[in-house]
Amino acid sequence: MTQSITSFRDRYGPWALVAGASKGLGAEFAAQLAARGLNIVLVARRADAMASLAAKLTADHGVQTRRVPLDLARADAASIIAAETRDIEIGLLVYNAALSIVGRFFDQPLEAHLKEIDTNCRAPLALAYTLGQRMVARQRGGIILLSSLSAMQGAALIANYTATKAYNLLLAEGLWDELREEGIDALAVMPSSVDTSSDQTRAPSRPSPVAALPPRAVVAETLAALGKQSSVIPGRTNRVAAFLMRRLLPRRVAITLMGRTMRAMYPR
Ligand SMILES: NC(=O)c1ccc[n+]([C@@H]2O[C@H](COP(=O)([O-])OP(=O)(O)OC[C@H]3O[C@@H](n4cnc5c(N)ncnc54)[C@H](OP(=O)(O)O)[C@@H]3O)[C@@H](O)[C@H]2O)c1
Repeated sequence: MTQSITSFRDRYGPWALVAGASKGLGAEFAAQLAARGLNIVLVARRADAMASLAAKLTADHGVQTRRVPLDLARADAASIIAAETRDIEIGLLVYNAALSIVGRFFDQPLEAHLKEIDTNCRAPLALAYTLGQRMVARQRGGIILLSSLSAMQGAALIANYTATKAYNLLLAEGLWDELREEGIDALAVMPSSVDTSSDQTRAPSRPSPVAALPPRAVVAETLAALGKQSSVIPGRTNRVAAFLMRRLLPRRVAITLMGRTMRAMYPR
């Protein structure tokens, strides 16, 4: 175990940056990376939540932390982060933040859909580009982008969200193939339901029919897959469901099934 922690830190350290780190999966990524001996840059909007997480990471694991309170939907988010981290070596980027708009497409203003693209697509692209260049110069590093199992097909009421998650899946897959020659491991994570009480624009009237996985399990499976594959679906049941939806069902049926589930969870 000591040996594997050392090699993880050598490969992806000395610092990891977790974008969207104040709660949920992002906070769990920060904790499990700190447990592997990486210093952590935390980025999110809630400075108070990051301050208590940072104190806990240092107390529990003796690592250094740096906090960047920032709205990642800002067009200049990546350049602000680059400036705030100029003096440290970031060997791992975890882009975890997301805006999850749920509701009928035309019930949302266009600006909200565009903000979802800024948060979920523009920012991970810009950060992968900016921090990835530094990794290429050192010939080592990792880039983890949060996609979703919902990225496999479009779905009613979350059409733009699923499209943004498909973007992250394909971006990570392409970078996995392109950058591995440069020593960089890219990975897309495709969780199904996770027990994070995530910030959605609307709470469901019914729970998801899929049992939620604990964040700890999702992050552990993700870190185990880094450097081994281009994408990971945490949870065995979710991998079976993905096989069914992607390989066995006609695409039209998969889209309709997803839409039916969403309409049941979010009735008009
Ligand atoms: N939970 C699930 O069931 C599930 C399923 C599939 C995929 N995912 C994906 O997994 C990722 C994490 O989900 P989660 O459930 O852990 O989310 P969450 O609990 O809502 O946490 C999201 C994190 O991102 C930060 N964030 C959001 N918008 C931001 C912005 N504009 N600028 C800066 N930080 C921002 C939030 O911090 P602040 O509010 O402090 O800024 C928070 O730390 C997302 O990419 C999501 O799409 C989740």
